[in-house]
Amino acid sequence: MISTRLERIINEQIQKEFYSAYLYLSMEAYFQAQNLNGFANFFHVQLQEERDHALKFFNFLNHVGGKVTLLQIDAPKTDFESPEEVFSLALAHEQFVTKSIYNIVDISLEERDHKTNAFLQWFVTEQAEEEATAENILKKLRLIGNDGRGLLMLDAELAQRVYTPPVAADTGAQA
Ligand SMILES: [Fe+2]
Ligand SMILES: [Fe+2]
Repeated sequence: MISTRLERIINEQIQKEFYSAYLYLSMEAYFQAQNLNGFANFFHVQLQEERDHALKFFNFLNHVGGKVTLLQIDAPKTDFESPEEVFSLALAHEQFVTKSIYNIVDISLEERDHKTNAFLQWFVTEQAEEEATAENILKKLRLIGNDGRGLLMLDAELAQRVYTPPVAADTGAQA
């Protein structure tokens, strides 16, 4: 069992995670157009992770007997000025998602819903990681400034990022 209030807010979180995937896909498109394939790869991995987050909430809601209601996903921003702008927006977006997760945690505590609270702890840790990663790259971009060689070095570094599929139980994916 899950309360109607938590059911509603988790449905909204599914929407936010899919929006994140959509936003990162838009950022991937920007970097592909710039021929910065390492940066594009970084956002391709991000996109897959956000889809996994959405599916994790989706499966949890089903698992606890809640009703999944898929909501409309807004169009993301499609024009960006610079890699630095992209990462400052990505960081701001992750901070927004962290607040959203904390809000669900608060409600789960208020309702003494310990299973939802336990489920959310993974996301609390994940958000800390997400914010740290975006901030780290943003700081590097600020150091790089207008140095094209620095940008290409960072691009080569980001090309190394590999997507790690979650355990099947988390997303309901077939192993
Ligand atoms: Fe996420
Ligand atoms: Fe994220």
